[in-house]
This record gives sequence, C-alpha cells and structure tokens, in this order.
Amino acid sequence: MTGEFQPGPQPEPQVEHPDVIFCPDGPMLLRGDHVIEDEDGNAHRTTRPVSAVCRCGGSMIKPWCDGTHKLLRRSSRD
Ligand code: FES
Repeated sequence: MTGEFQPGPQPEPQVEHPDVIFCPDGPMLLRGDHVIEDEDGNAHRTTRPVSAVCRCGGSMIKPWCDGTHKLLRRSSRD
C-alpha cells in the first residue's frame, strides 16, 4: 500500500432538474442564466428559462437552435 488516496466510485448526484442537457442529435439545453460565446467571440445572454444552443452547426440563428438539426438528421438517413 502506497498511502495514496484512491477515490472509490462516486455516487450519482441526485438532481431533479439538471442545468445542462445534451439532446441526442440535437441542441444543448441550458437551464437558467448563462452567457454563450459564439465562434466570432460575441457574447449572447440567455433570456428564457430554458435555452437551446445549436450543436449541429446548421442553425440560421446561431448560437441558438432553430430546429434545422431535424432536417439534417432526416437528410442523412435518405
Ligand atoms: S442543434 Fe438544432 S439547429 Fe443545430
């Protein structure tokens, strides 16, 4: 035994409403107040209780999701 601390498995946090949710093939949902920096370095403050941030790169209103990811997902299946 080396005396080093060996952390064991950590218990899952009991969170009723997570602050960040990654939607499969879709946006990242943010709960609460956040500032998002876009690819040009511009800051965008969230204004809704839950905001959807584009992760597909196809939105016309970046950094926010406009639903385009659904079309991209559909066209990739065709
Ligand atoms: S994730 Fe919805 S438009 Fe990109």
